[in-house]
Amino acid sequence: MRMVDLITKKRDGGQLTKQEIDFIIEGYTKGTIPDYQMSSFLMSVFFKGMTPQETADMTMAMVDSGDTIDLSAIKGIKVDKHSTGGVGDTTTIVLAPLVAAVGVPVAKLSGRGLGHTGGTVDKFEAIPGFHAEIDNEQFIKQVNEVKVAVTGPTGNLTPADKKIYGLRDVTGTVNSIPLMASSIMSKKIASGSDAIVLDVKVGAGAFMKDLEGAKALAEAMVEIGSNVGRNTMAVISDMNQPLGYAIGNALEVKEAIDTLRGEGPDDLHELCLTLGSHMVYLAEHANSVEEARRQLEEAIQSGKALETFKAFIEAQGGDASIVDEPAKLPAASYQIAVKAKQDGYVSAIVADSIGTAAMILGAGRATKESEIDLAVGLMLEKKIGDEVKQGDTIVTIHSNREAVEDVIERIYEAYTITGSKVGRPTLVHAEIHSK
Ligand code: URA
Ligand code: CA
Repeated sequence: MRMVDLITKKRDGGQLTKQEIDFIIEGYTKGTIPDYQMSSFLMSVFFKGMTPQETADMTMAMVDSGDTIDLSAIKGIKVDKHSTGGVGDTTTIVLAPLVAAVGVPVAKLSGRGLGHTGGTVDKFEAIPGFHAEIDNEQFIKQVNEVKVAVTGPTGNLTPADKKIYGLRDVTGTVNSIPLMASSIMSKKIASGSDAIVLDVKVGAGAFMKDLEGAKALAEAMVEIGSNVGRNTMAVISDMNQPLGYAIGNALEVKEAIDTLRGEGPDDLHELCLTLGSHMVYLAEHANSVEEARRQLEEAIQSGKALETFKAFIEAQGGDASIVDEPAKLPAASYQIAVKAKQDGYVSAIVADSIGTAAMILGAGRATKESEIDLAVGLMLEKKIGDEVKQGDTIVTIHSNREAVEDVIERIYEAYTITGSKVGRPTLVHAEIHSK
């Protein structure tokens, strides 16, 4: 087989066989196929697309490029949740203990990563003493005993995806549905889950800016799942403004505790119940999505969700007393109010700009080497649809430096306040199930 023939085949709209896709992915991972040929191939895929079969074959070739996690020692159906990324998305911190509280095993592999705030692992590490670097044996034992464990990046998972994603980033080939779908799904499959609930974000603060694109990405991922025997469904949720009020690591842990207590922001609460009920249903722990939702609501009301959170924190070495005394979480030295300049209604909060504001405060990493400040971040005091009077606080900045003009400027850029009444945005736009 010659790479140049496969490039021209795809360039001319042909369909590649599994053997041909394996050849490409293996060759590129090992270094026998150079970047320039792979770039050309990726651009051909960008323009010509891939069939569902090709996309599934590409996914499995990337899974097979490295280690996979074996979760078979954990009893029950393991369901994972993946979000395509947004701003202040606190759902994983809530869902891990919440879903575990009803008895569904949650074996969560999470990253640190770059971005507006830290990754899920960084957020959990805002809890004093908590460590995510646990070995495989403890990970599995803990899921069997406490029903939930979180671990950082382990082993050499999907090296092909790492290398290809890096190349896509600099060759204008990130925004291709088959490439995104196979990239995301390969990582979920390699981390060992039996079933997958996807939260595909749509809106100004997301990868996919419009509903049509988000649906196409969701459908492609759900179809990969069916093609490779992992039950998969997707929820398309709104990212036209950040989710909840908190953006920042310790601030989001506090927000998650409030939500597990039933006192969280409405949108975060609702999205967690929606995603969580699909997770519980796919785990075959309920006969319907409605019944699953009732189980989760009951876990919140009875205090079981908070109890599970405490047990999980303790199992990973953390100080569980933060659940009752959140003041023990890292706190910033300064709280600075950003005030509305006029009366009206909030009509837009550009999630991206808010995320950037949080990052320049130190809540996230701009480069791999950046240090995160777990205490800092933003609390949104007003969201889309809220009425404001001139001088009302719209955002509180939690900062460890006194001068934050650069942050304030971005917050004003992000917020639009209009004269006429504005409705609240739809939170869940669609659900995509396998055919
Ligand atoms: N996230 C991923 O992991 N891969 C993509 O291709 C896009 C978003
Ligand atoms: Ca949040």
